[in-house]
Amino acid sequence: MNRIILNETSYFGAGCRSVIADECIRRGFKKAFLVTDKDLIQFGLAKLITDVFEAHQIPYQIFSDFKANPTITNVQDGVKAYQTSGADFIVALGGGSAIDTAKGIGIVVNNPGFSDVRSLEGVADTKNKAVPTFALPTTAGTGAEVTINYVIIDEQARKKMVCVDPNDIPIVAIIDPELMYSMPKGLTAATGMDALTHAIESYITPGAWTMSDMFEVKAIELIHQHLKNAVDNGQNKEAREGMALAQYIAGMGFSNVGLGIVHSMAHPLGAFYDTPHGVANALLLPYVMVYNSKSEAAPKYKEIARALGADVAGKSTEVGIDAAIQAVKDLSLSIGIPQKLSEIGVKAEDIPALAEAAFNDVCTGGNPRPTSVADIEQIYREAF
Ligand SMILES: NC(=O)c1ccc[n+]([C@@H]2O[C@H](COP(=O)([O-])OP(=O)(O)OC[C@H]3O[C@@H](n4cnc5c(N)ncnc54)[C@H](O)[C@@H]3O)[C@@H](O)[C@H]2O)c1
Ligand SMILES: [Fe+2]
Repeated sequence: MNRIILNETSYFGAGCRSVIADECIRRGFKKAFLVTDKDLIQFGLAKLITDVFEAHQIPYQIFSDFKANPTITNVQDGVKAYQTSGADFIVALGGGSAIDTAKGIGIVVNNPGFSDVRSLEGVADTKNKAVPTFALPTTAGTGAEVTINYVIIDEQARKKMVCVDPNDIPIVAIIDPELMYSMPKGLTAATGMDALTHAIESYITPGAWTMSDMFEVKAIELIHQHLKNAVDNGQNKEAREGMALAQYIAGMGFSNVGLGIVHSMAHPLGAFYDTPHGVANALLLPYVMVYNSKSEAAPKYKEIARALGADVAGKSTEVGIDAAIQAVKDLSLSIGIPQKLSEIGVKAEDIPALAEAAFNDVCTGGNPRPTSVADIEQIYREAF
C-alpha cells in the first residue's frame, strides 16, 4: 500500500499571495497569527503579507521570536503568544524555520498533551489537526509548506528532532515566487541544493514508487534547468518560478516516501554548529551518493544523471553512477557551495558524536543502503 498526503489547496504564481484574503474569508477565519522571522520583517517581506491583511481588514498579530533552525523554547514561546492572541488561524511566512515553528505551534495548541515538544519527535500520536495554517515559502528549498514534517532543535540534547505528523500539514500552501527574489546568492544556492537533495534521496529510497518518482524526476529536471540561473540572476522571473515549483514538487514526493542519510548527517551539523540546512546537505550529498551507489538503488542513478543533463542513453549502470555524481558535484561547485566540512567549522573531534546522532536520526530508516555508525563516521571523515 502507498499513501499520499498533500495540502488541501495550493496556489502557484507571481503575486498569488493575495489569495490569503479570499481563503481567509471563505473559511470564516477572523484573526491571523503571522509567524515570520525578524530578518523577513526587516527585508520588508512581512509587509507584503500585512498589506494583504490591511487591505481586507483582517486583524493579525505577528510572532517572530524564534531563530533559524528553531528550538523547543521557540515553539513553546509561540504557543503562549498564540493562546493570548485571539487568533483562529496561522499564516507562516518564511523558509523552513518559520514554517516549521508554525507547525510546532499549531500542533501543540491543539494537542496540549505534547507541550514538552520533545515527545513529538519521530511519529507522534497526536489526535487533533494543527491550527489551520496557510504557508508561504520565501526560500526555494525545504518544501515545508507541503510536507508532513517539521524539524526542531532540542538544545539540551544537542539534537535536531524530525517530527513526522500528518496532522501538521498546512491546509493552504501559497507558492509566490515574488517572495523569493530577495534571497541572496548563497541562500538561493544552499536552499536549492536542499531541494535537489530531497529529490535525489527520495527517488532512491526503498519506499519510492511510480508517483513519488514522477515528482522527483521532474523536480531534478527543473533544478537542473533553473538553479544556476536563479543563483546568478536573482531577478530572473523564469528561474525563480522554476525553483519555486521544483522545491514544492520535490516536497510532494519526499514527504510521502522519506529521505536518507544525507539528511540524517545534515541534522547534527545544524544542532552542533547551526550550519544552514541547505549547506550541510549540499556538501554531503555527493559523498553519500558514492556510498549509496553500492545498493539496490544503483540502476536509478542513470535517470538522475539524465535529469541533470548528462547524455547517458544506452550507457551502463556504472557510467550512470559516475555521471550522476559528477553532475551533482559540477552543479554544486558552479554555485559556490563549500566542498569540505573543515571549511564550515566542523571539528574533527566531534565526528564520532555526529555519527552517533546521525545514525539515530529518523531519516536513516529511508536510506537505500543499510548503514552503521562506523560507515557514517567514515563518510563524515571523507567529507572533512
Ligand atoms: N519541514 C520540512 O519538511 C523541512 C525540510 C527540510 C528542511 N527543514 C528545516 O528548515 C530549516 C531551514 O529552512 P531554510 O533553508 O528555508 O532557511 P531558514 O528558514 O532557516 O532561513 C535562513 C535565513 O534566510 C532568511 N531568508 C528566508 N527567506 C528569505 C528571502 N526571501 N530573502 C532574504 N532572506 C531570506 C531567513 O530570514 C533566515 O535568516 C531547517 O531547520 C531545516 O531542518 C524542514
Ligand atoms: Fe532538507
